[in-house]
Amino acid sequence: MMITNKQGPIGVFDSGYGGLTVLKEITTLLPQYNYLYVGDNARSPYGTRSFDTIYQYTLQCVQWFFSQGCSLVILACNTASAKALRTIQQKYLPLLQDDNKRVLGVIRPTSEIIGQYSKTNHVGILATNGTVQSNSYIIEIQKFFPQVKVYQQACPMWVPLIENNEHNSAGADYFIQKEIQNLLQQQPTIDTLLLACTHYPLLLQKIKKYVPTTTTILTQGTIVANSLQQYLAKHHAIEQACSKGGQIKFYTTDDVTDFNNHATVFFGKEVKANHIDIECK
Ligand code: DGL
Repeated sequence: MMITNKQGPIGVFDSGYGGLTVLKEITTLLPQYNYLYVGDNARSPYGTRSFDTIYQYTLQCVQWFFSQGCSLVILACNTASAKALRTIQQKYLPLLQDDNKRVLGVIRPTSEIIGQYSKTNHVGILATNGTVQSNSYIIEIQKFFPQVKVYQQACPMWVPLIENNEHNSAGADYFIQKEIQNLLQQQPTIDTLLLACTHYPLLLQKIKKYVPTTTTILTQGTIVANSLQQYLAKHHAIEQACSKGGQIKFYTTDDVTDFNNHATVFFGKEVKANHIDIECK
């Protein structure tokens, strides 16, 4: 087993803009590290694609991060975490024979804590088709909170609404209300709702309109940031492989001007991205 000693930025990945809501919280909590963000906007949304396609796309982006010197890559995308992470961890990473190359996702850190918030032990998951079909949340939450019953609702229109900048429109309300009603019809006593797609925090104000005021709504940015902080504290060699300096570089596989205009809304600060072509390997 080889171990790389070179330092590199922490990679943060999403199919598009959603991962920026996670990057925002990570860089607030851990501003000392350098980061590379990739939005695979040219191929988003991932949520409606097959397991194989999401695996191939995610793997290509992970390989790109490694080629840029990253040791640690965070899949800040539930769909990629649900459909590609396990295969990357179990089949791809061992081939590299480098113990300092790690890929982490967003499902586990969220599943580890969600049960703490529910009194009724009924939690709701709002996510893409891909995440729902994988049943990843049902499987993971069961490990930490066997008493919790998980109800899921796929919201296939939500990412396209956000990616097309229509999330504040009146039309968005129709789709938001519809999916929340579908979820609450499955179980009206759901008291904890997870926005299990990193795009969905942009819909938070509209989502609040359609759930009881007593519902706890969880977004993943701070959860993932806290979990990363704990991970780096526990894994000294990985922490040492993460370069410091507070630089953040943004990359998109699509048009840079569009990305910059849109990304600012998700990241809360000005974003100046570069274009990359992710080649098939
Ligand atoms: N942000 C991604 C997620 O967390 C969105 C997926 C998509 O591209 O459909 O699932």
